[in-house]
Amino acid sequence: MSLLEIRDLRLVYPNGNEVLKQVSLDANAGEIIAIIGRSGAGKSTLLRCINGLERATAGTIMLDGENLTAMDEPQLRRARRYIGFIWQEYNLVNRLPVMTNVLTGRLGYNQGIKSLFGYFDRADRDIAMRNLERVNLLHRATQRADQLSGGEKQRVSIARAVTQQPKIILADEPVASLDPQLSLQVMSDLARVAREDKVLTLINIHQVNLVHQFADRVIGLAQGRIVFDGPARDLDEAVMSRVYRFDKAEEKLIESAGHRVVI
Ligand SMILES: Nc1ncnc2c1ncn2[C@@H]1O[C@H](COP(=O)(O)OP(=O)(O)OP(=O)(O)O)[C@@H](O)[C@H]1O
Ligand SMILES: [Mg+2]
Repeated sequence: MSLLEIRDLRLVYPNGNEVLKQVSLDANAGEIIAIIGRSGAGKSTLLRCINGLERATAGTIMLDGENLTAMDEPQLRRARRYIGFIWQEYNLVNRLPVMTNVLTGRLGYNQGIKSLFGYFDRADRDIAMRNLERVNLLHRATQRADQLSGGEKQRVSIARAVTQQPKIILADEPVASLDPQLSLQVMSDLARVAREDKVLTLINIHQVNLVHQFADRVIGLAQGRIVFDGPARDLDEAVMSRVYRFDKAEEKLIESAGHRVVI
């Protein structure tokens, strides 16, 4: 049994848009997997299906033996405790201190009155502090989140995600808002903590150089299907053109608009 088992996942949005078609994959603890594909290929939708923000139209998603696709909302909320999410736009609570933002990673473990009053016990605080230290931001602990730079915000959200002690981390274009140097630092922090904690990590990403540097495995999505799944070292020109190729119908459309764009 693999930690994550996705079988024949299909997602049709209410407007009839079939965005994922027969997606199947197996992944294990400690793997760092880059998901690449053109804009609209279904990368974000895939991550949103795994954390239950979108409900699969068909197929199953099993995480550590639990069928996420068969869960009701309360069950899903409990399961999300083990699913860390990192967003392109950080999703921090701006007016709260950095430390409190990281501590929200423990909320799933502290239901009820304690968390309502923002009370976290010593063990939770120790976990959060240690993780803030791992991304070299302990000196920012008491600062408001909105006083940080983009790169620092993303490192706080990495600390928050690992503070959940998750089974899986899902990162949706975590460095898309950052310049190349900060992207490198954020990816290096993410990959390091994920490897140290042996957390399965799926990262939607467009920067191929970072894929080569930090991912073990690459999944290429094109029009809602997996068209490549293999080690990052096999990501070459041929694979790239398979993943990023133009759809014939779309190509025609662009030509008929009077110009042809190749990206
Ligand atoms: N709520 C929705 N309802 C209908 N269609 C949607 C919805 N959300 C996304 N889509 C469509 O589904 C397709 C896949 O979207 P998705 O966001 O998963 O792509 P992506 O691979 O993450 O793209 P990008 O690289 O631009 O982030 C797109 O055509 C998008 O317009
Ligand atoms: Mg996306």
